[in-house]
Amino acid sequence: MRHSAIVGSILAAAALVRADSALIAVCKQIQQAVSPASEVFWPLSLGYTKDIGHWATTSTQNSACSVEPGTAADVGTVLQILNSTQTPFAVKGGGHTTNPGFSSTPGVQIAMYRFSEVNYDSATQTADIGSGLIWDDVYASLEPLGVNVVGGRVTGVGVAGFSLGGGYSWLTNQYGLTIDNIVGYELVLPNGTVTTVDKSVPDLFFALKGGYNNYGIVTKFTMKTFPQGQVWGGLMTITGDHLDAVSNATTKFSATVTDPKAAILPTYNFLLGAPGVSLIMFYDGPTPPAGIFDDFLAIPHFTKDVETRSFSSLVLASPANATSMTRTVFHTVSLTQITPGIMNAVVNESLFWGPRLSLATATFVSYDVEPFLSSLLTHGSISTSAYPPSRAQGLLPLNIYFAWEADLSDDEFRNAATQSAEQLTKVAISEGQDVGNAPLYGNYAIGSTPLERIFGDSLPRLQAAKQKYDPTNVMGLAGGWKV
Ligand SMILES: Cc1cc2nc3c(=O)[nH]c(=O)nc-3n(C[C@H](O)[C@H](O)[C@H](O)COP(=O)(O)OP(=O)(O)OC[C@H]3O[C@@H](n4cnc5c(N)ncnc54)[C@H](O)[C@@H]3O)c2cc1C
Ligand SMILES: *[C@@H]1O[C@H](CO)[C@@H](O)[C@H](O)[C@H]1NC(C)=O
Ligand SMILES: *[C@@H]1O[C@H](CO)[C@@H](O)[C@H](O)[C@H]1NC(C)=O
Ligand SMILES: *[C@@H]1O[C@H](CO)[C@@H](O)[C@H](O)[C@H]1NC(C)=O
Ligand SMILES: *[C@@H]1O[C@H](CO)[C@@H](O)[C@H](O)[C@H]1NC(C)=O
Ligand SMILES: *[C@@H]1O[C@H](CO)[C@@H](O)[C@H](O)[C@H]1NC(C)=O
Repeated sequence: MRHSAIVGSILAAAALVRADSALIAVCKQIQQAVSPASEVFWPLSLGYTKDIGHWATTSTQNSACSVEPGTAADVGTVLQILNSTQTPFAVKGGGHTTNPGFSSTPGVQIAMYRFSEVNYDSATQTADIGSGLIWDDVYASLEPLGVNVVGGRVTGVGVAGFSLGGGYSWLTNQYGLTIDNIVGYELVLPNGTVTTVDKSVPDLFFALKGGYNNYGIVTKFTMKTFPQGQVWGGLMTITGDHLDAVSNATTKFSATVTDPKAAILPTYNFLLGAPGVSLIMFYDGPTPPAGIFDDFLAIPHFTKDVETRSFSSLVLASPANATSMTRTVFHTVSLTQITPGIMNAVVNESLFWGPRLSLATATFVSYDVEPFLSSLLTHGSISTSAYPPSRAQGLLPLNIYFAWEADLSDDEFRNAATQSAEQLTKVAISEGQDVGNAPLYGNYAIGSTPLERIFGDSLPRLQAAKQKYDPTNVMGLAGGWKV
């Protein structure tokens, strides 16, 4: 008994070493095949550590090596080698996914950092944007030109995953989702061929607008640009004794403000044993019209960094990095309305889970309420984008976000996020919101969410495109929402 256990573990260790040496051979093959523009990094090197790193530690895995391709042709070469050796791999843009295995792997980690150019074309009013960038860098490049694109709201988030999944922006009330504003892609197909995808290739153009990494690796996005001047807003933090006032102001904002230049992002959180709110306010202009934010500004604050500033400065003022580098789960609920009942339920959920999860090493328990205008989905059409699978109703994504320290608590936190989403959905349904089967946003949804809840009626079209462009399932070697 004892002997066979020991023999068993020796055999297991040997298998592990064999697997590792096979992976190392694949890494070496890649190293020899790619051009000097690309580089392979080995464990413990700085490049490797950066390449496998993620915003959430639960999204990071140790890979055999990492690759930073420098040209689209090299991406094709790498894909061909990975497929011919049937090697598991991952593609990482900004590394902000909160689902384990979506952009990480024990095999070969591809990091897109070298696709880092932003090229604005004033004739077409579009910008070509490299898929290795984070939004911070995109805004910094476009700002001196007086233009902007529909991208991320807070610091550090990657362009690629955000744009391949949906994209809820400060500019969404005015121009729609990020997906609605992408006019072209440079895509390396699963067979290694580099191609461009625009509306003249309708099935793939549709599939890339929500289909993540199912169709190959995107190296460049071409996005519509819009004039951008100074904005107003920033971060205000509020202590737990004013939750009611924030909820009242949020409900009123959601019900009455129709100016598409105005947006808010109130996050109810439970941090260091106490409830509170981090509120980001945004107005697309140097001064907001009187009335829109008055109720929020009248609430006593703990900290306040709200002013007329550049768009970049507003994005950098967000606290997103402060809660990075810890174990994390995101989940989501889709709502049609932000009502007093919903706000009460959000407060109740944070007060219910905050103290309980603190016992299981929670560092952060939070709920982002996102009161977009109900017209947010009218800027695009279901015939041209896979997400959202229905535009009949203006769905507002609510983000549940828990962070913790102990790996032993992973299941507890994922279960809590799932239960909390169910509870909030129940409250919404009890109010008459028709959201029991509403599509969920793939960039917020927990990894165990059934595909149908994310892609809905788009799924058959996504699967047909998959059959056509990746019949041998090369991209199945990478994790993510797999159609
Ligand atoms: C702090 C924070 C704030 C956020 N704020 C917002 C917000 O305001 N609005 C919003 O809509 N979402 C928001 N999100 C969610 C965000 O959209 C997702 O986390 C998204 O995955 C980020 O993209 P990424 O490139 O950083 O992710 P990654 O982890 O790099 O990638 C995510 C997925 O995309 C795939 N992928 C990456 N690059 C490529 C490529 N070049 N080709 C093909 N597939 C690729 C990956 O394989 C993976 O499956 C936020 C997330 C965080 C953590
Ligand atoms: C947040 O982290 C990213 C790196 O992931 C960095 O580029 C960005 O500048 C940071 N933001 C702030 C406000 O420090
Ligand atoms: C991927 O590899 C498999 C197995 O070797 C092979 O059958 C298939 O044709 C390859 N796909 C492509 C696109 O090269
Ligand atoms: C919030 O609204 C409720 C219901 O109208 C009211 O009873 C309560 O006093 C308000 N609270 C604050 C702080 O404004
Ligand atoms: C508060 O939340 C808990 C957990 O979801 C739930 O069981 C309870 O019914 C809620 N209470 C109220 C008053 O909504
Ligand atoms: C790769 O796939 C595309 C789309 O299916 C096809 O048009 C192209 O000819 C293929 N390239 C090669 C080299 O087989």
